[in-house]
Amino acid sequence: MLERLRTRSPALLALLAQLLALLGVAALLLALARLGDWRPSLWQAALGQGALAAALGHGLGLRRWWLPLNLAFVPALLALHGRAWPAWWFLAAFLLLLLVNWNSFRERVPLYLSGARTRRRLSERLVGLPADFRFVDLGCGLGGALVQLARDYPRARLVGVETAPLPFLLAWLRCLPHRNCRVRYRSLWDEPLGDYDAVYCFLSPAPMAELWAKARREMRPGSLLISNSFEVPGVPAGEVIELHDWRASRLLLWHL
Ligand SMILES: C[S@@+](CC[C@H](N)C(=O)[O-])C[C@H]1O[C@@H](n2cnc3c(N)ncnc32)[C@H](O)[C@@H]1O
Repeated sequence: MLERLRTRSPALLALLAQLLALLGVAALLLALARLGDWRPSLWQAALGQGALAAALGHGLGLRRWWLPLNLAFVPALLALHGRAWPAWWFLAAFLLLLLVNWNSFRERVPLYLSGARTRRRLSERLVGLPADFRFVDLGCGLGGALVQLARDYPRARLVGVETAPLPFLLAWLRCLPHRNCRVRYRSLWDEPLGDYDAVYCFLSPAPMAELWAKARREMRPGSLLISNSFEVPGVPAGEVIELHDWRASRLLLWHL
């Protein structure tokens, strides 16, 4: 059960850590009230809750990047609570986050972008393919990789698929001026891969095993699967291009 939550729904595990930490701090406050005179301030209680939630989340097996999120969640709520924000502001912020990070919860793939160096190296690596090669970016985000390739390879046929509403809209608009580039509102799991010479993705560790199975089923012999940084478990890449950037990105290539 815990393992399933860890791998499939880490956000629920984080919620569990937050609730347990709230209970723990409430119990401590009650005990302190009974035993002596010391009353922690609201801020001390919130910081204590954050530290406990971070430790519990870590103990439950959440990845390291959950530590600052769990630590800051309740203190951030407290900081926001102290200000007179209009109520609609929270709804607007929530909707904006939802529209951008649509795929974070179910697919466990948030939005972050291929950097300029990555896009350049990706483009250079495609030199040598036929001039009218077909390329897809699975989860194309804001369409940065597509726009770069559309400029570098005017005869190539470039497709992006994206299901987060706001990134989709922005990518679609950015690709409008490029005749050879199209962005579809479609899940990457519904995009047939058989027609492409190169399939690019920058997702997360979560979907890589399933994506590999899909690539093996659908991609043509001789075509290329390219993953920005995320490995396929148990299947070493045939080619690795180190990008030497601050996040130690790599392009991993599998020749189908
Ligand atoms: C890390 S971003 C990469 C964006 C872009 N490919 C780039 O390299 O700049 C991953 C994107 O995949 C999208 N995504 C996740 N799951 C998806 C799915 N099932 N179908 C389509 N897009 C998906 C997310 O919404 C997000 O925009």
